[in-house]
Amino acid sequence: MQELDGKHIVLGLTGGIACYKSAELCRLLVKAGATVQVVMTEAATQFITPVTMQALSGRPVYGSQWDVREPNNMPHINLSREADAIVLAPASADFIARLVQGRSDELLSLLCLARPAERVPLLIAPAMNREMWVHPATQRNLRQVDADGARVLGVGNGWQACGETGDGRMLEPAQLFEEIVAEFQPKVLAGEHVVVTAGPTFEALDPIRGITNHSSGKMGFAIARAAREAGAEVTLIAGPVHLPTPRGVQRLDVTSARQMLEATLGATQRASVFVATAAVADWRPASHSEHKIKKDGSGQPPVLHFVENDDILLTVAQGARAKAGELFCVGFAAESENLVEHAKAKRARKGIPLLVGNIGPLTFGQDHNSLLLVDADGVRELPRAPKLMLARELAAEIAARLPSGRQR
Ligand code: C5P
Repeated sequence: MQELDGKHIVLGLTGGIACYKSAELCRLLVKAGATVQVVMTEAATQFITPVTMQALSGRPVYGSQWDVREPNNMPHINLSREADAIVLAPASADFIARLVQGRSDELLSLLCLARPAERVPLLIAPAMNREMWVHPATQRNLRQVDADGARVLGVGNGWQACGETGDGRMLEPAQLFEEIVAEFQPKVLAGEHVVVTAGPTFEALDPIRGITNHSSGKMGFAIARAAREAGAEVTLIAGPVHLPTPRGVQRLDVTSARQMLEATLGATQRASVFVATAAVADWRPASHSEHKIKKDGSGQPPVLHFVENDDILLTVAQGARAKAGELFCVGFAAESENLVEHAKAKRARKGIPLLVGNIGPLTFGQDHNSLLLVDADGVRELPRAPKLMLARELAAEIAARLPSGRQR
């Protein structure tokens, strides 16, 4: 089972140097199981040839509304009815302006106008020079296409082909791919605000050393991504990890448990779900040396003193919002044995409705995992699968447990 099995995407290219990135996007979509029908404006063919896009999509490219290949000679109707989504990448400033006006004198704008809006989403990946991007006309047009039901995917920042630097670059193919995949996920957490802690914490001894826990952060990042795909607003509080931020997720980087606690207390003030996946260090050094602790030649190691860190999950779960049922708390437990017993005991000790257990050594740094869900009704296993798949299942499990019609 691949991410986009059974999905049919109309990929529309308009005039812009970013067309070269669309070749890679097409490849990613096809590799993920989608069928891709490329439609190009005349301007797009100045930047990349239909031959390239035909070879990558495995289908002849459309470019004219007078295409005689269609028996009824209505490619705008046929192409838009077959689609599960229409993606415009790159979408030029001119093309966006044309959408605003409902122009339809060439195939791509015509099929966008003919799109059955209630079931075929229109995703727009703008690409243009930074001055064109910030121009009030462009910004006005973007607001209008958004109000008309399209989803504007945003732009990147950086070096532009014109030699200038700023906003307006088309998003990278992998980012666009992530957005397209997200579009198809059920919006089970729409309207929720989910806070996730992820990764380890690092408790400094001196400027060079410290103690930490094993944790790649992959499970927590997958949960943040899945929650966002499910329609939630997501705040991800991350310890020191080397992972890219999922699209559309607000990330707060922290180092120590105390910083993580502070960030979490702030973010959960207006959240409705809290998922604690972080491997928080249980102890921190009682004192922090301003300079590196040196060997003194005596052969005796230094005596280190530790104090216990606050339990972030426990603190939040015992707070007023969780107690009032406004904040649904989910804990994680990484064990090495007796998972069911430990997980049940931990759920009771933390006073939380849902605890997710996993076997530590089988998950650390891995892309796959299996989860054990423990709630008041008992135990349920989510069998071994990629972490993102498990995270999506967990998002649905959380959604099913949220009190309906809750006041936030
Ligand atoms: O008690 P234990 O550390 O095994 O509990 C694990 C759960 O508690 C995880 O959800 C973890 O994120 C959370 N936790 C926390 N703050 C701590 C310790 C654990 O939030 N100081």
